[in-house]
Amino acid sequence: MCMPFSTVLFKHCFLWILTAMCPPTTPAPAPMSTSTSTTSGQVAFAGVNIAGFDFGCQIDGTCDITQTFDVASTGDGIQQMQHFVQDDGLNAFRLPVAWQYLVNNQLGGPLDATNAAAYDKLVMGCAGVAKMCIIDIHNYARYNGMIIAQDPSGQGPTDAQYTSLLSQLATKYANVSNVAFDIMNEPHDIPDINRWAQSSQAAVTAIRNAGATTQQILIPGTNFTSAQTFATLSGPALLNVTNPDGSTTNLMFNVHRYLDSDGSGTHANCVDNNINDSFMPLANFLRTNNRVAMLTETGGGPTDASCMQLLCEQNDFINQNSDVFKGVVSWAAGGFDTTYVITERPAETQGANGTTFTDQPLVTQCIVGKFRGASGIL
Ligand SMILES: *[C@@H]1O[C@H](CO)[C@@H](O)[C@H](O)[C@H]1NC(C)=O
Ligand SMILES: *[C@@H]1O[C@H](CO)[C@@H](O)[C@H](O)[C@H]1NC(C)=O
Ligand SMILES: *[C@@H]1O[C@H](CO)[C@@H](O)[C@H](O)[C@H]1NC(C)=O
Ligand SMILES: *[C@@H]1O[C@H](CO)[C@@H](O)[C@H](O)[C@H]1NC(C)=O
Ligand SMILES: *[C@@H]1O[C@H](CO)[C@@H](O)[C@H](O)[C@H]1NC(C)=O
Repeated sequence: MCMPFSTVLFKHCFLWILTAMCPPTTPAPAPMSTSTSTTSGQVAFAGVNIAGFDFGCQIDGTCDITQTFDVASTGDGIQQMQHFVQDDGLNAFRLPVAWQYLVNNQLGGPLDATNAAAYDKLVMGCAGVAKMCIIDIHNYARYNGMIIAQDPSGQGPTDAQYTSLLSQLATKYANVSNVAFDIMNEPHDIPDINRWAQSSQAAVTAIRNAGATTQQILIPGTNFTSAQTFATLSGPALLNVTNPDGSTTNLMFNVHRYLDSDGSGTHANCVDNNINDSFMPLANFLRTNNRVAMLTETGGGPTDASCMQLLCEQNDFINQNSDVFKGVVSWAAGGFDTTYVITERPAETQGANGTTFTDQPLVTQCIVGKFRGASGIL
């Protein structure tokens, strides 16, 4: 299946992180969190991203919707999800989509009937088999190059234009209890995190007021919502985002973390298990503040030995801290072909009994191997 290169190249952050300086790690036992109340076990939600409706989106929030790939009708995203549930015991999928696609390039406008119906096929295909189906607005806190509510030009999209989108989606899916709302993919270079907290608050309020009163809402921070810097750069401001009743029930933080040298998710090999620099401090932050998070992007080369080791170590640590880490959704299957550098698209063979899916080795070992049978119970 064809895959626009621009999406591959620009999908992820180009964040330079301290671990870029570290040599490849040697096997080390996963250290336990320094906090006292760790739990062993397994995250409640686990699965993969089903990419396609986001193809054409860049980190500046432009999305060329001529490149949108309808992974439900043109692709076989629904069959892939059925495979991951029925054959692998996974239960959660993230469904990236371009803001521009949903409103057909009319900022602040109504959901486009045709495009929203195409995306709805994917959402409902997921909802029919999975325990969590995450609607992900894949726009980097931007629309066509400008930051929501705080673009330096003063010309950016307003909170009202942004929440109009979420409000309409929440109205549409208010009665689908296993739909979750990831209010924005990977905000970055946000001038004022407190202002982003205000936009996030507007998003949560809009979703709840539209009638989606109990579904999970996932809230991201700046720096591409990196798990490494979430607790320091974003967490303090985002702790204040609440439901209209003042509670934080069913509000989760959303973090991303790759394992390659620059944390960008663009290399096949892995260099760090992210425990010491990211997931341990994040677990402590969450526990201290009585909050929870999901990791909704992570991954590595599908057959790479360093990733087999390090992603498994990372995911073991996340399972050990399942009191504060509620899910892992890795990147990515869906419209990517099996040659994409960190593909999780299963290989497919046609036989007498229909399509047989064979998972990528990294998925078998470190996703299915760690999360099969995830309960869906928080
Ligand atoms: C959800 O269900 C309730 C009760 O059955 C109904 O009143 C409401 O119109 C439904 N909302 C949507 C968006 O389908
Ligand atoms: C992102 O994180 C790095 C490393 O912690 C930090 O140096 C940088 O200032 C952060 N960038 C933003 C935009 O907050
Ligand atoms: C968060 O709320 C607390 C208590 O209401 C307040 O003291 C603090 O200034 C708020 N922080 C931000 C970043 O808004
Ligand atoms: C993490 O920290 C522990 C304890 O300080 C240390 O033994 C281990 O080598 C570190 N792991 C990595 C991958 O840096
Ligand atoms: C097709 O399914 C049947 C019944 O489960 C099984 O006996 C047969 O071996 C399958 N054929 C192939 C080619 O997988």
